[in-house]
Amino acid sequence: MNNDTILINKKSWDEVAPRFYGRTALPEYGPFAPEETELKLFGSVRGKKVLDIGCGSGHSLKYMNDNGAAELWGLDLSHSQISAAGELLKDTNVKLFQSPMELNPGLPQTYFDVVYSIFSLGWTTNLEQTLKNVHEYLKPGGVFIFSWEHPLFSRIQNTDDGLLFNKSYHEEGPYDHQAWNHPAIMQQYKVSTYINSLVDTGFKIIKMVEEARITDELISRDHNRWYNWSKVQSVPTTIIFKCEKH
Ligand SMILES: C[S@@+](CC[C@H](N)C(=O)[O-])C[C@H]1O[C@@H](n2cnc3c(N)ncnc32)[C@H](O)[C@@H]1O
Repeated sequence: MNNDTILINKKSWDEVAPRFYGRTALPEYGPFAPEETELKLFGSVRGKKVLDIGCGSGHSLKYMNDNGAAELWGLDLSHSQISAAGELLKDTNVKLFQSPMELNPGLPQTYFDVVYSIFSLGWTTNLEQTLKNVHEYLKPGGVFIFSWEHPLFSRIQNTDDGLLFNKSYHEEGPYDHQAWNHPAIMQQYKVSTYINSLVDTGFKIIKMVEEARITDELISRDHNRWYNWSKVQSVPTTIIFKCEKH
């Protein structure tokens, strides 16, 4: 785990949290991605013990609660996000932990039916350790579902002459997040790194989704400088994995 990066990102998320209140939460997987109502990756969560990694303002946990999950657990780096989630879910028995996902803050092992992460997992400074933690939290046969920005998306930029592949796809590791005014350090992992890390950790990959859904409603909601229309038409924005613990 990179402590300097974690501290920078925590400060940033504590400041920007209100801007992201309720954004990127189930049934949405990410900008211009197909939704859970269409994909049905979770199936029924009724009676299940679920854990949200990078739970943000708690809106995905609320979706789980509304769909009958038996236990709601969430973890997030940001104090602001955890207190927003606590407020949103104050009428439930949610258990929230303020912690980097790279560490286990005291979560039970071999316990959860479902662990998921909606647009948070790629922030990790240690993918292998984070996946190892998730694997330990799950019961055998438990399901792990996560969405993240597609690794090609940050490599390609819009220019007046069209799309430009301006960073090497081969290059992995930390980079400065340019879409915010606050300093934040993101991590670049290739698609094969996600696949191989999942397999090496002991997950079976059930499904990967890279499709985009471009509707007038989504264009008016999600279109901005980063999710630029001509780029979104050609480059996948979001990647979704569904896995199972062996
Ligand atoms: C886009 S938000 C997630 C939104 C959330 N899925 C929801 O349903 O509202 C990304 C979250 O990742 C969290 N985060 C960033 N780095 C993290 C880390 N290393 N460990 C845990 N959470 C982290 C941020 O604090 C932020 O709340």
